[in-house]
Amino acid sequence: MNSIYSDNRLALGLMRLKDISVEELENIIEGALSMGVSFFDISDVYCRHESEIKLGEVIKRNPDLRTRMIIQSKCGIVKEDNIFPHYDLSEDHIKNSLKASLERMHLSYLDSYLLHRPDIFMDNKEISRSFNSLYDNGLVHHFGVSNMDVSQIEYLKKEDGEHPLECCQLQLGLGQLSLLSQTFNANNPEENHLNTDGLFFYIKKEGLALQCWSPYQYGFFKGSIFKVPELKKTQDLLKELALKYKTTDCAIATSFLTDLGPFVQVITGSMNLSHIKESLEGTKIKLTKEDWYRLYASTGHLLP
Ligand SMILES: NC(=O)c1ccc[n+]([C@@H]2O[C@H](COP(=O)([O-])OP(=O)(O)OC[C@H]3O[C@@H](n4cnc5c(N)ncnc54)[C@H](OP(=O)(O)O)[C@@H]3O)[C@@H](O)[C@H]2O)c1
Repeated sequence: MNSIYSDNRLALGLMRLKDISVEELENIIEGALSMGVSFFDISDVYCRHESEIKLGEVIKRNPDLRTRMIIQSKCGIVKEDNIFPHYDLSEDHIKNSLKASLERMHLSYLDSYLLHRPDIFMDNKEISRSFNSLYDNGLVHHFGVSNMDVSQIEYLKKEDGEHPLECCQLQLGLGQLSLLSQTFNANNPEENHLNTDGLFFYIKKEGLALQCWSPYQYGFFKGSIFKVPELKKTQDLLKELALKYKTTDCAIATSFLTDLGPFVQVITGSMNLSHIKESLEGTKIKLTKEDWYRLYASTGHLLP
């Protein structure tokens, strides 16, 4: 089934805007749109609101861009001066954050809105009420979550109203494979994997889109998978496969993710149009199963 998620295998993440000017951002967005990348991912917390403000400046300068863009933002992480960072998914916080995000970005609605991280105090009825109200007022068209596990998604889905969760955004890439490693090692103590409680197949079964954040980062922002010494074997294999498929390392690393199925979206954080083009090319490549498994194993994860 087509959706704003499955129709856009590559999304452009707007987290790394600290050193990007409004003019540069406008050029990047124009360039991305002209190559067919229309889905943009942002959050109120990126650069402490600065990312949304910069995107808003671009929209103000060039309002016609909005009609060509699918814009997704997130709420729930509170990071302000003089406040200890925390999570808040209360009804008031969700509604007020959305209102503030729309104002910052000069938008009348969001295509997609995600709960950025789980809040231990979250209440599924409150969340359902806030989603219904945002949808009924035409402010948000689609909803999803990020960084949530099976039990949290199940808990929220129990109160799914007319506007159910449609996607889950998690870190996944050759430098962070915990979502997949359990799949091959259900009870194998030799693979030191994180128990993700079958999250990957749960997402697939529930028909959610899986958005992969930081697809080219090693671990939690420990450097690029194309450069870190820990992934030397993977880097050599990416080069070998790039030659075989007549493409680039980045395209191969991207197809490793999009090959998982049409429900998978990749969110690149590159601010370089030629790098974004490489990622887009990767969404069109299909690796053989053998090459896919070779890449997986090259990272050091166990394939028993
Ligand atoms: N939900 C969450 O909790 C969460 C957390 C983090 C991020 N995100 C989302 O995920 C997006 C991506 O995150 P990220 O920026 O960490 O992801 P990333 O794309 O994995 O990392 C970006 C880095 O990779 C480099 N890169 C990308 N393509 C490359 C290529 N072809 N060759 C060489 N280097 C390349 C970029 O350098 P260049 O700029 O030079 O290309 C940049 O330094 C964010 O913008 C945000 O939207 C979500």
